[in-house]
Amino acid sequence: MIFAAILAGGIGSRMGGTDTPKQFLTLGNKPVIIHTIEKFVINEKIDKTIVLIPKNFINHTVNLIKEYIGENGDIIVIEGGETRNDTIMNSISYIEENFGIDDESIILTHDSVRPFVTHRIIEDNISAARKYGACDTVIPATDTIVESVNGRTVESIPVRDYYYQGQTPQSFNIKKLFNLINSLTEEESNILTDACKIFTLKDEDVYLVDGEVTNIKITYPYDLKLANTILEDGHD
Ligand code: CTP
Repeated sequence: MIFAAILAGGIGSRMGGTDTPKQFLTLGNKPVIIHTIEKFVINEKIDKTIVLIPKNFINHTVNLIKEYIGENGDIIVIEGGETRNDTIMNSISYIEENFGIDDESIILTHDSVRPFVTHRIIEDNISAARKYGACDTVIPATDTIVESVNGRTVESIPVRDYYYQGQTPQSFNIKKLFNLINSLTEEESNILTDACKIFTLKDEDVYLVDGEVTNIKITYPYDLKLANTILEDGHD
């Protein structure tokens, strides 16, 4: 089976100024999270879309889905975790308990606040996860990357051609991800900030999928303005 996990367990503290997490703010004529969910639900290869939400927003999310998408047995709303990785783990535990995991099971994990993910990106993630077991969506770095360890002086300026900006989806063969997670030491778990990092930590390949500059993450208030501009420009 192919699953999408829409990661919406965060509270959007960097947006500031509102008690409503940024995934519920309005973009065009509907909430950001609805734009995002729709992109996965219309893909016929995806069997179930699991939406992971802070506990006190679960009912609200169920109601929004009813209002904007309608009754849909392929969308499941469950509680997210304390950290982004915990949220991913919740989706995997849910899949294991309710559907089982076999050698072919694939999961696409996607930030709920990247509403402009395209059909092409989703298709490429499915193909790459099937073929290679793990993939990350990226775009080439446009700015020069400057490394500073102490935050005061420059350590190095790496060759820009080797650097990319990570987006999502990040997609995996679930069995492989599950086994790798279970093989982590406590120390390794603590330094894990990114699911693809589990693979690189264990010397497993993660393939690159081309992202899009429009596949932005809404993090700060300015990003919501930018998202409205992208929408007005004709992006769906
Ligand atoms: N996320 C999640 N579970 C968490 C934390 C984050 O599913 N415990 C999700 C967010 O909801 C978001 C995505 O991961 O869709 C990207 O994270 P980020 O932009 O950092 O979101 P927040 O954690 O909500 O934002 P902030 O760091 O500003 O509080």
